[in-house]
Amino acid sequence: MELHIDVSDGRELREKISRQIRASILDGRLREGDALPPSRELAQRLAVSRNTVTAAYELLAAEGFVHAKAGAGTFVSSGARRVERPPAEVSELRPAEVWDSVPDPPLRFAVEAEFDFRAGAPDVRLFPFETWRRLVTEQLRGSRPEVLTYGDPRGHAGLRAEIARQLSLSRNVRAGPEDVLVTNGSQQALDLAARVLLCPGDVVAVEDPGYPPPRQLFTTLGARLAAVPVDGEGIVVDRIPAGCRLVYVTPSHQFPLGTSMSPARRVALIEWAKRNDAAILEDDYDTEFRYTGRPLEPLHSLDNAGRVLYVGSFSKVLLPALRLGFLIAPPGLREALGKAKYLTDWHSASVGQAALARFLAEGGFARYVRKMRREYRKRHDLVRRILEEDFAGLLEPLPSDAGLHLSAYSSIDARPVVRAARRAGVRLYALGDFTERRDSLQGLVFGFGSVPLEDIGPGLRRLRGVM
Ligand SMILES: Cc1ncc(COP(=O)(O)O)c(C=O)c1O
Repeated sequence: MELHIDVSDGRELREKISRQIRASILDGRLREGDALPPSRELAQRLAVSRNTVTAAYELLAAEGFVHAKAGAGTFVSSGARRVERPPAEVSELRPAEVWDSVPDPPLRFAVEAEFDFRAGAPDVRLFPFETWRRLVTEQLRGSRPEVLTYGDPRGHAGLRAEIARQLSLSRNVRAGPEDVLVTNGSQQALDLAARVLLCPGDVVAVEDPGYPPPRQLFTTLGARLAAVPVDGEGIVVDRIPAGCRLVYVTPSHQFPLGTSMSPARRVALIEWAKRNDAAILEDDYDTEFRYTGRPLEPLHSLDNAGRVLYVGSFSKVLLPALRLGFLIAPPGLREALGKAKYLTDWHSASVGQAALARFLAEGGFARYVRKMRREYRKRHDLVRRILEEDFAGLLEPLPSDAGLHLSAYSSIDARPVVRAARRAGVRLYALGDFTERRDSLQGLVFGFGSVPLEDIGPGLRRLRGVM
């Protein structure tokens, strides 16, 4: 490891070198067992005499921070960090005020309870790892330099073509490769869409209850939020305030209620957007998994006025860790979106994009989706049956025919149930976690993406026991 040491003013060299190495050990940049650079090499690099470096190392050794091993070098000693840490550097710098209201992000999402019914995660254990390793290895052979250098901000050409093809087949979304912008998950698609559409002070309508990260994102971009209620048919269009510039919705599988927007409501929303000169952000995050009924037309397919931006994600259907999603936007926004993507992160990681393009083209993706749909349907049906039979009188499951979670209204306060369940090894969200009107929305959300079929019965029995 290259150790940065500043000796620029040329004075007190031994102290300067030892002080900076000591600080690196104390703050953890250098860890127990790490080798210090050979004294000759460091002396050359810093243009100081070797004796100076040796003297600095000896000083650190005398303090117990490092020890020399004959013939091998100088290493950080065990216990060196037990010496008290220096106080954190004082800084007056503070983030812009808007960040004060943003909650801490989840730092890990790995399954951590015996029964983890939190919504949002797919079953990563069933991913076709071997195929994916082959596809990634192919890209890393070095025979395709275009994948290894900077790429097109709008995405890998092959992947854009495959996404357009798949979408027209599976969702009747009319799009060509030129319409597709590849993003880092759907979250970045929402960010880029909002960046190119919104000015500070613009109003964005969001579903209430709804998925929190986009709301927080829009706020940090200077937008004002209008929380619009959701009923059995979807967002209540009549309650969207006039003057909204953007409406963010999850029509296929409302998050968190799990219901889908009725055909009439879809048409009403598009008509509303036309009348109000507004845009609609359609988040179609997990609709590859539909279990009953005919898939409803996405808003994007019903839109004949270029009002809808369609957002998709590979997080649920493959792996969240791939961080791949996409945005299909009307032609007038394409250029600005390409610029925004470039300015944000140039482009999404090309190796994963190219591997995914092959996976889609070879048919492996379609086979995997079919397999997972069968698997998730069993889980969905089992959760629903157990809720209907064993939780009657306590829970009222909402209609659901797609996705990786379903929800139920409860006749009792859901928050103590969630806390008691957690103590008993069951994790799940309350519906109230997704609204400001916590007290008026009682219910539970049952994610089954990461709970194996055989664990669903025992997990729900455990939950029943604490209710
Ligand atoms: C409503 C909704 N949209 C999108 C996502 C996925 O985000 P991403 O594609 O950034 O992983 C989730 C994940 O939980 C979600 O619940």
